[in-house]
Amino acid sequence: MSVYILGIESSCDDTSAAVMDGTTVLSNVTASQEVHRQYGGVVPELASRAHEQNIIPVIDKAIHDANIEKNNLNAIAFTLGPGLLGSLLVGVSFSKALAIGLDIPLIEVDHIKAHILAHFAQRKDHEKNVPEFPYICLVVSGGHTQIVLVKSPSDMQILGSTIDDAAGETFDKVAKIMDLGYPGGPVIDRLAKVGDPNAFKFAKPHVDGYNYSFSGLKTSFLYFLRDQLVSDNDFIEKHKADLAASMQKTIIDILTKQLVRAVKDYKVTQVAISGGVSANSGLRNAITDLGKKYGWKVFIPDFEFTTDNAAMIGVAGYFKYLDGEFANQTDAPYSRGAK
Ligand code: KG4
Ligand code: ZN
Repeated sequence: MSVYILGIESSCDDTSAAVMDGTTVLSNVTASQEVHRQYGGVVPELASRAHEQNIIPVIDKAIHDANIEKNNLNAIAFTLGPGLLGSLLVGVSFSKALAIGLDIPLIEVDHIKAHILAHFAQRKDHEKNVPEFPYICLVVSGGHTQIVLVKSPSDMQILGSTIDDAAGETFDKVAKIMDLGYPGGPVIDRLAKVGDPNAFKFAKPHVDGYNYSFSGLKTSFLYFLRDQLVSDNDFIEKHKADLAASMQKTIIDILTKQLVRAVKDYKVTQVAISGGVSANSGLRNAITDLGKKYGWKVFIPDFEFTTDNAAMIGVAGYFKYLDGEFANQTDAPYSRGAK
């Protein structure tokens, strides 16, 4: 029998709604907020306003595209955190109200866990292989960088995290320093394809355990450019592809070094990447190559499920639905960490 779950995501600057039939994605609609581009980053107040404007049209379209009626829904899964509080409140409050209106249960979902479980989202037309437990997932997004041992959908152990900036944030800051626009990750990715990754060398951090640090890299990039610009005002323009390729390679080297150690130490054979930065072509290639070298089974999400989307919220919600784990009307969003 079908279990229809409406997923709702509003933790940052994407308003997204998806209708799932179990783990099968019937629709996945996202309104990305262009308003932040001119400011070079997400402006929380504007994000909340845009969510308020987008949420009803996005949910309407998701239900319409799924070809169901709202009365067919069995539950609503929504992101409770982490994220921007004002953004989260829009999705959380809307979900609560709709659940009362339809008299169906609510399921709260952790945004990071949803990125990790995005690998279980299936398209209607073709079934794909999904990871077996336990697997290790490298979660790399605008706000998070973690290595997670995934023992089951409800049992995850964080092995390492960034102690300062996230990987996506580093891509964005590098692009900002070079005046390439926001979000920077996709621009760096595009430029890196035509640049030399060995043109420039940047210092890599030494961090304990399986943790990460990116703030030193960002600072060394800034100082390097400042010195070069003294003798050549056009240095960035002349070398932007090589700079992008070299920075991208450095970030990927940092990310994969700790990941390889964790996978070896925990003796897992299945390795996944998730989150917005898992859209990066250099990282996707690097993980594929490492899989061949070490005999890992590698899982790379479809582009649609890398950056923020509600299908991943729906999948994570479905696992909780199967466990009978429902949320309360009194649950409040959280900006950091876990509930
Ligand atoms: O997962 P996500 O959509 O939002 C958060 O939960 O943070 O990730 C957004 C991040 C941004 O920092 C963006 O620059 C980065 O993912 N990103 C990329 C690429 N596409 C998105 N970074 C590198 N290469 C890409 N192709
Ligand atoms: Zn995210």
